[in-house]
Amino acid sequence: MKTIVLVLGASGQIGTELTQRLRLLYGNDNVIASDIREANAEVMASGPFEIIDATDKETILATIKKYNVNQVYLLAAMLSATAEKMPQKAWDLNMNSLLAVLDLAKDKHIEKVYWPSSIAVFGPTTPKENTPQKTIMEPSTVYGISKVSGEFWCNYYYEKYGVDVRSLRYPGIISWKTKPGGGTTDYAVDIYFKALKEEKYECFLSENTRLPMMYMSDAVEATIKLMQADSKDVKIRNGYNLAAIDFTPKEIALEIKKHIPEFEITYKPDFRQQIADSWPQTIDDSQARKDWNWKHKFDLKAMTEDIIFNLQKIKN
Ligand code: SER
Repeated sequence: MKTIVLVLGASGQIGTELTQRLRLLYGNDNVIASDIREANAEVMASGPFEIIDATDKETILATIKKYNVNQVYLLAAMLSATAEKMPQKAWDLNMNSLLAVLDLAKDKHIEKVYWPSSIAVFGPTTPKENTPQKTIMEPSTVYGISKVSGEFWCNYYYEKYGVDVRSLRYPGIISWKTKPGGGTTDYAVDIYFKALKEEKYECFLSENTRLPMMYMSDAVEATIKLMQADSKDVKIRNGYNLAAIDFTPKEIALEIKKHIPEFEITYKPDFRQQIADSWPQTIDDSQARKDWNWKHKFDLKAMTEDIIFNLQKIKN
């Protein structure tokens, strides 16, 4: 059967690039982008787009029927730093959108659901190095609470109603096409823009704060690989640990300096430091590598080269 996808949150950091990759894979007209605001020019021009509030179940259902959608990628969410400022709103958005989509799958309106989880499911009591798939999950952020709860809902709908839902615990995702908004790992995106524009960057995390990270193209590939995996190989239905690289602000700055020798970084940690300190430093994703053959391509060096090359191209 033909795959027809609805992407909720297609104007966001991951949604923008995932939509384009899905269009390449399934055909432009078979991937319906949606968000509460218009997407970038490329997404708007290359295929269908609908304005949808991801918590509005009726409009999601109407869109599913209009286009005969059979898979939903739900990427709309409020990230960690913004969620701390608007806890109730974050909870409502992150939870109600997920429950709406899971219900639509339970009622057989769609066959497959993708929903991202995050390293934010972990908290201060979790082992920080090589964090295992199964471990203590006591998050200290609203975003983390919504992600850990969401994971349990995903597993519940799978066990109880047979809903084919799949999820990845993304590390910090680094991109240059669309910036993230309101996350704790956003510094690792901002730093490249500032390095090229001003040759300096004031970092809101301290120099030795190590966090798990990943380049966008790896994140997109992992998502598609998981969604295309045989259902029997998807052994985890709450959220797979997923890893590629890890670094500190100091290390990424040194890598950037290899391309822009004048670049200087300074540190002024704010409230996001505490969030970062509650998360793992490195992740054990061996289960994903074993179950559906996950492999990342980009290390810090290759990612930095690619980003600087592309940002310079835009600049010139
Ligand atoms: N990148 C996200 C954030 O910082 C984590 O999932 O909120």
